[in-house]
Amino acid sequence: MKSSDFEFLKLDHNQNRVSVLTINRPEKLNALNRSVLNELDQLFQKIRNDQKTGALIITGAGEKAFVAGADIKELSSLTKQQGETLSAAGQSIFDQIESFNKPVIALINGYALGGGAELAMACHIRIATDSALIGLPEVSLGLIPGYGGTQRLPNLVGKSKAMEMVLTGQPIKADEAFRIGLVNHVQPAADALGYTIKLAEKMLKNGPIALEKAIEAINSVYSNNSYTKEATLFGQLCDTNDFREGINAFLEKRNADFKGN
Ligand code: COA
Repeated sequence: MKSSDFEFLKLDHNQNRVSVLTINRPEKLNALNRSVLNELDQLFQKIRNDQKTGALIITGAGEKAFVAGADIKELSSLTKQQGETLSAAGQSIFDQIESFNKPVIALINGYALGGGAELAMACHIRIATDSALIGLPEVSLGLIPGYGGTQRLPNLVGKSKAMEMVLTGQPIKADEAFRIGLVNHVQPAADALGYTIKLAEKMLKNGPIALEKAIEAINSVYSNNSYTKEATLFGQLCDTNDFREGINAFLEKRNADFKGN
């Protein structure tokens, strides 16, 4: 597949069947607008049976960000129903990543906030550069994580730490993310891609059917979560004044003044 099939995604293959997918919207810190989400959906469907890809690394273009979240500008006009639909659509795309038939590794090369952290959590493994910052700041916008974050974060780090991260909205640095088990390894930025490619190549020495079934078996431990509940609550929040205030405050570059309604 040519990268030119996509406006915001770049796909490179190496001869050992490790492919690198770069989210390529650096001027907006690779924020996930609808087009990026649609392209992700299409790309994962297309490469499922593509022999050139045995494992996939996802990273962000530019020096600053993996992905700085859902596109806040696009969120601003959501109604309750649209919010619930968007959340369910995002969940479904990220579910496709989590249940992908080949290993998917997030290389978190900077900010991984909101939808960016959720994208990384949907991957099977996470490598962070030492400058990475990972967080779920949705409550600062009057929202909650809506692309599976309320479900995957407790699975990865436990309920207590997940509550703290989601309720404060404060991001954590790479070393803390490693300490709590949110990322598997931390690497200096200059070495991180090479390190991640080597890790993927190690996996690809193993039988591809075994890899697929191992992913499926481990995922089945976590299959009873309440993604529907998350989407319903996300939609309900889109109906609040606090949500409108939170989004407007970000777009107007000021602090939000929440009234609790
Ligand atoms: N959605 C839409 N646009 C975003 C974005 C997002 N999630 N994150 C960053 N951008 C845009 C900014 O609006 C800015 O655009 P502009 O140049 O047209 O004004 C551009 O990306 C660069 O971001 P900027 O805020 O200027 O960079 P910074 O280095 O000062 O701050 C962050 C970086 C990540 C701290 C800050 O961009 C931020 O807080 N982003 C939102 C994070 C968030 O709440 N994500 C969860 C969304 S649900």
